Amino acid sequence: MADLFLPAGSRVDPHGKVHKAAPGAAAVRSFRIYRFDPDSGQNPRIDTFELDAKSCGPMVLDALIQIKGQVDSSLTFRRSCREGICGSCAMNINGVNRLACTTAISDLGGDVKIYPLPHMPVVKDLVPDLTNFYAQYASVEPWLKTRTPAPPDKERLQAKEEQEVIDRPSACILCACCSTACPSYWWNSDRSLGPAALLAAYRWIVDTRDEATGERLDALNDPFKLYRCHTIMNCTDVCPKDLNPAKAIAVIKKKMIERQH
Ligand code: SF4
Ligand code: SF4
Ligand code: FES
Repeated sequence: MADLFLPAGSRVDPHGKVHKAAPGAAAVRSFRIYRFDPDSGQNPRIDTFELDAKSCGPMVLDALIQIKGQVDSSLTFRRSCREGICGSCAMNINGVNRLACTTAISDLGGDVKIYPLPHMPVVKDLVPDLTNFYAQYASVEPWLKTRTPAPPDKERLQAKEEQEVIDRPSACILCACCSTACPSYWWNSDRSLGPAALLAAYRWIVDTRDEATGERLDALNDPFKLYRCHTIMNCTDVCPKDLNPAKAIAVIKKKMIERQH
């Protein structure tokens, strides 16, 4: 049997720095956080930060902000809206891809283990390089494409039922929790589009105002872009907005078959 080893430079040192809670802290919680600084020339390590839960806000993002503000200003992570809207605080928390700002510390047992989203190059600490992810999103041309001229006196309107079809997929916040939970995407992220980009493609394929459905399906008819999905469903399980990329991908595949008849 083959022996598999990580390259020496990517092995994580589990015994990084330990920052103890202040003496007398009433409710100590430990946060074990992945640290990586490409400029240091050192391997990644896991630092431990003890916080008094009573002095910290309720969410994992509150803990990260407190650590950065009061303990180690070099801790690097993305965040913006703090309410599950911008998608920028996605990270792997206790083994699950989630938004730090909507994950309550009290819902997590034991030490809180925080890593960057899996299987992506790491820019620094908890910040993954999403360049490829965004390029794949752009590649599905996520905008309305029409051939016929717009009505002169009104917008291109939809019936309520037509709008409801695109309502949920339009709520995607591009957090990348789904794509980075997808084993098929892990192994083929250079060629498989992954669930987030495919959900975006679906959103325009089923939009009744769009007039480029055939062109969109042609662009996806590729063994890697679409057909690496094997309906493992991790994407749907982890989506923090309760969207269903796996179902959307299944609908795209069905449309591929239907148009052959
Ligand atoms: S259903 Fe498809 S896209 Fe979603 S996790 Fe599974 S293989 Fe990936
Ligand atoms: S489908 Fe869900 S998990 Fe995937 S990028 Fe959109 S919001 Fe995030
Ligand atoms: S900070 Fe915007 S989704 Fe968490």
